[in-house]
Amino acid sequence: MLNVAVIGTGYVGLVSGACLADLGHNVVCTDKDTQKIDALRGNAIPFYEPFLKELVEKNTDINRLKFTSNLPDALRDVQVVIVAVGTPTNPNDGRANLSFLNEALDDVVRFLCNDTIVIIKSTVPIGTCDILQKKVDNTSRYKCNIISNPEFLCEGSAIHDFMYPDRIIIGGSLKSKHWIEALYSDHLQRGIKFFYTSRTTAELVKYSSNAFLAMKVAFINEVASLSEKTEVDLETLIDALGSDSRIGYKFLKPGPGFGGSCFPKDLEEIVNVTSHNLLSNNILLTAISHSNTERIKEIADNILDIVPDFGLITILGLTYKANTCDVRASPAIEIIRHLLARNIKRLKCYDPRGMANAKKILGNLVEYSESLYDAALNSSLIIVITEWDEFKNIDTEKLRCLVKIPYIYDLRNIINQQSFLSSGFRVKTLGTFA
Ligand code: UGA
Repeated sequence: MLNVAVIGTGYVGLVSGACLADLGHNVVCTDKDTQKIDALRGNAIPFYEPFLKELVEKNTDINRLKFTSNLPDALRDVQVVIVAVGTPTNPNDGRANLSFLNEALDDVVRFLCNDTIVIIKSTVPIGTCDILQKKVDNTSRYKCNIISNPEFLCEGSAIHDFMYPDRIIIGGSLKSKHWIEALYSDHLQRGIKFFYTSRTTAELVKYSSNAFLAMKVAFINEVASLSEKTEVDLETLIDALGSDSRIGYKFLKPGPGFGGSCFPKDLEEIVNVTSHNLLSNNILLTAISHSNTERIKEIADNILDIVPDFGLITILGLTYKANTCDVRASPAIEIIRHLLARNIKRLKCYDPRGMANAKKILGNLVEYSESLYDAALNSSLIIVITEWDEFKNIDTEKLRCLVKIPYIYDLRNIINQQSFLSSGFRVKTLGTFA
């Protein structure tokens, strides 16, 4: 088993650290944010991710997972360093901000005490890991092999995705293959597919995967609008489309548009890279974000078209998807902004996990409720924006007694339509209008 240091305790870093510890490695997670490290030591997880708290607790209890903000301590006797710091979009030029990554690498070089491999899990622009290799070759006293190993886990199912990925991409020199095989020995034994490739290939696999998935979502959202206009049965259409194995069912769920900290950011970066490389045809890649922005506007317009009066609108769901507390680039927040700009005065919101983060963005522009039933009191229209399980099994009779006008617009097609109709609600879903 290996000694592993993980730099950065965001979704990717913390999940990777906890999972690798669970697979038997000795893992130390570090972060410059001392408050976060103190909290983690007390088993307070900085974000909501199903089963992560239990996994962290289990592995800290048996001393296989530790937290420190002292990097030299973390780097003592390590064979593998994993860098999972953020690479947010720089608002000035739309490019990925690599300052956290460069700082982390400088620190690693400064404090390293032996040869090691440095695995970059942060999503970085094509060519970054080659540049980092040159940099460490020129500055480090020890051999430091840079490996690009992009992560494909999704928020909400992160532990499962880390443990059971469709593939693992290893970009870099094969000199360190034995360390990689030791790190991922469990994955190897289970027959998970490994791709050994160049660093730049690994980097582009990450960007093109996210761009492709975002394109699928944008595509099905455009088709969903078309099906509404042409009165085509959307559910059957999706079923028929997805049953073509070349297309597949995954990422064909229509919704209010995609969001999160990855798709929008990575699309911006891949389009920038095409421009920097003077590619004349980046039409499709450019159109994905545009289509998504239009989707969100279209949904806001649909709401304004159907809102029965200027009474209270109930918003169910603020996170960009279910099973996370993350509201970054959430379509719900964008839709709310559109509605507020169009003179909708009273919005009452409820989300099972995203309220605290949403409050930081929306402040007192909207009202907040502790339960979906409270949010629906005197409501003229209920809008379901996030696909939380809680919204799939609403007590429609109870809800009917609370609302002013029984009207629901489901932007994820998850509610029990029949139950709502039987309780006297008017129901609009994506693709249908009853
Ligand atoms: C995405 C990728 O799926 C991961 O593989 C990748 O590791 C991650 O970005 C990243 O780069 O870190 P994530 O942002 O957690 O993961 O969420 P997804 O499940 O991909 O969903 C993204 C957005 O698309 C959400 O707003 C979701 O609601 C929307 N979506 C997804 C749909 O509207 N319909 C679908 O069928 C699927």
